[in-house]
Amino acid sequence: MKKIIFDTDPGIDDAMALLLAHACQDIEVVGITTTFGNASIENTTRNALYLKQKFGMHAEVAKGVNTPLDQVKTEPATLVHGDNGLGNIELPDQINTPLSPLIAHDYIVETLKKQPGEITLVAVGRLTNLALAIEKAPEIGKLVKEVIIMGGAFGHNGHTGNLTPFAEANVYGDPLAADIVINADWPVTIVGLDVTQQTQMSNAYLEKVRTHSEKYGQFIYDITRFYAKFYNDDLGLDGFYVHDSSAIMYLVSPEIFTTKQGHIRVITEGPAKGHTLFKGSNRVFPIDEWATAPKQTIAINVEPQTFNQRYFDIIC
Ligand code: BDR
Ligand code: CA
Repeated sequence: MKKIIFDTDPGIDDAMALLLAHACQDIEVVGITTTFGNASIENTTRNALYLKQKFGMHAEVAKGVNTPLDQVKTEPATLVHGDNGLGNIELPDQINTPLSPLIAHDYIVETLKKQPGEITLVAVGRLTNLALAIEKAPEIGKLVKEVIIMGGAFGHNGHTGNLTPFAEANVYGDPLAADIVINADWPVTIVGLDVTQQTQMSNAYLEKVRTHSEKYGQFIYDITRFYAKFYNDDLGLDGFYVHDSSAIMYLVSPEIFTTKQGHIRVITEGPAKGHTLFKGSNRVFPIDEWATAPKQTIAINVEPQTFNQRYFDIIC
């Protein structure tokens, strides 16, 4: 069984990824930690509790902080995810699911200490919670099984950014946190735009999910109407790119991804804020910023047809 803490800002594609994890027999979602981004921290936390209640999840939900480490807040992505973060579908007024008494980063630290070597952190939003956790308790680096991140863009296949020409939204939203998390002493794999924009779910595919998945189909179809319209208006796509589910798919089927190892740094301010840099060579440069960066892994290719087939098989 692959146990995960899912760090997320639901978010339409976050919800799709969480449902993929929940539906997958090999994955146990132990906890859900929330972050701001696609919507405010209040809305992303409400959405996480709503998803837990609606789909009968056992995961504990812990609320994160509401500000990036550099205190420079970006507006919630309401244009992409709707005002409520879930494509403006109707949500119940009251959700009767309790929150964890712990704040997200403390929940991460405590849970990793209780289950050493067993938990993978899958992060698909700003990396603020993970940065606060590893800064507060660096020993969790040895307790985590793996860290899988949806974020960043390394220029493979021409993909360099989606919020600015050179930055992906999750990294741009807290670049200091991203640099801390990526350069901490724990094994990180980054599934960035390089691969998430190779996979596309069309409206016909979503219709098929709607008719074949009794439990999740209609819900996925409903929340993705707003998202698909944004992608169509903005980029002329039929359907949308598959961001957050790619991180879960990497956990389920790493063999359909090609990866590379190297050193990574994040630009934390200026016009290239949020840009992720990758150094693949073994050459040692005598400059501190790079000399201490550990080797981590990035995904550079994926098999999109197999991806969509697996998502369909698990969800349906
Ligand atoms: C990422 O940004 C968010 O809007 C999505 O949920 C995803 O995590 C893609 O850049
Ligand atoms: Ca997300």
